[in-house]
Amino acid sequence: MTSQAIPMTKKNADSVTLIDNRTGKSIDLPLIKGSAGPNLIDIRQLYNETGYFTFDPGFTSTGSCNSKITYIDGDEGVLLYRGYPIEELAEYSDFMETSYLLIYGELPTAAQKKEFEYSVVYHSMVHEQLINFFRGFRRDAHPMAVMVGVVGALSAFYHEHTDIQNPGEREIVAHRIIAKIPTIAAMAYKYSIGQPFIYPRNDLPYTENFIRMCFAVPCEDYRSNAVITRAMDRIFTLHADHEQNASTSTVRLAGSSGANPYACIASGIACLWGPAHGGANEAVINMLKEIGHEKNIPEFIRRAKDKNDPFRLMGFGHRVYKNYDPRAKVMRKTCHEVLNELGLQNEPLMRLAIELERVALEDPYFIEKKLYPNVDFYSGIILRAIGFPASMFTVLFAVARTVGWIAQWNEMTNEENQKIGRPRQLYTGETRRSFVPVNKRK
Ligand code: CMC
Repeated sequence: MTSQAIPMTKKNADSVTLIDNRTGKSIDLPLIKGSAGPNLIDIRQLYNETGYFTFDPGFTSTGSCNSKITYIDGDEGVLLYRGYPIEELAEYSDFMETSYLLIYGELPTAAQKKEFEYSVVYHSMVHEQLINFFRGFRRDAHPMAVMVGVVGALSAFYHEHTDIQNPGEREIVAHRIIAKIPTIAAMAYKYSIGQPFIYPRNDLPYTENFIRMCFAVPCEDYRSNAVITRAMDRIFTLHADHEQNASTSTVRLAGSSGANPYACIASGIACLWGPAHGGANEAVINMLKEIGHEKNIPEFIRRAKDKNDPFRLMGFGHRVYKNYDPRAKVMRKTCHEVLNELGLQNEPLMRLAIELERVALEDPYFIEKKLYPNVDFYSGIILRAIGFPASMFTVLFAVARTVGWIAQWNEMTNEENQKIGRPRQLYTGETRRSFVPVNKRK
């Protein structure tokens, strides 16, 4: 039976009725209303009552959990963290304050903010033994591969002592992960360029400390740049959470079995690595380099529209946003600020990106399919100007998204009657058949 054979008709405001045209039976499915966004049809009893599963690969119409953390209205281009618009947080808040907000649900008081920042700083050093894991990797290993391995290895350092049912311990896990991931990320970078690791400093704020761990060398003093630090901090804020995206869902799914939280975060990093997700900012730079010159833009636009060509305009389109990604607007402005500060206003890739965006936004294909620049379109240009190689871009995304992952993991673990995530499938393989001994196989 196909889904078309089961029409849904609206019966009353609180439920929908599903009629099985084969048997004539009907079932009322309750509607669940959130504080914002579309209603959801509660199908938890569907299989018990009808024997049917739903089919939704890619989860385009499936809500997987309750969450109070992040809200997106993709049609209007709205992103709220705990109710606060991302544009306001990017302008007036900072990454540590936003992290507190995502984890605890409210903006901190001055005293709470200080205490939180102190706790994060205090946990930023990694076990000296962890350094040995880096040495096992080839120098040319992709830093995301190193991140997956080393963050996963954290679970070996904090396993026996981690009782995830205890809220106090979950809080320590959250602070520890937020604190150690930037240290590990900076180490992954230093390792890839053959420079000595720079240890964190407890007297520096989170983002300044991170940039220093990436760019300082032991043989000279490091001077931070306020514009760069602010831009990096804003990039972290913009990437901190994004509702039930692929990597967050991965963390939740891994965590739903009660697995070690550090291992769950490593699974999120693995998922984020893909070019359709966090790897897109790296892909944008590669694409801009490949385009090379404004005169080649029409050819690449043509290729992006050609169904027989796998090429897609990287940094364009989003599963949820069918309007300008609000993060992309902030990113575009930040990009100009950074390039001005560094005297790179005429950076060719930036000029190319602006022209590409203009052409795509006027093209009927992109208009019709509601394909707008996403957060990754400009972030790569900023990160490149700051001095990061493209291979580090997704690592920086992972540093920021760690906060969202841990907030979502904590929310899930705190839930009453929390269940292991276990989707079903549409089986299309062989049905039962008998084993054939090897000498009888043709
Ligand atoms: N260039 C050209 N065509 C596109 C693009 C694009 N970037 N994105 C979507 N389309 C077309 C696609 O071919 C399809 O056409 P049709 O309906 O004729 O088959 C239609 O638009 C819908 O695309 P989809 O692949 O069904 O949409 P999706 O929601 O599954 O994919 C996406 C979302 C982000 C994976 C996709 O837009 C994409 O591949 N974009 C480029 C990669 C990128 O920038 N990713 C970063 C996402 S934002 C950061 C993050 O969340 O991690």
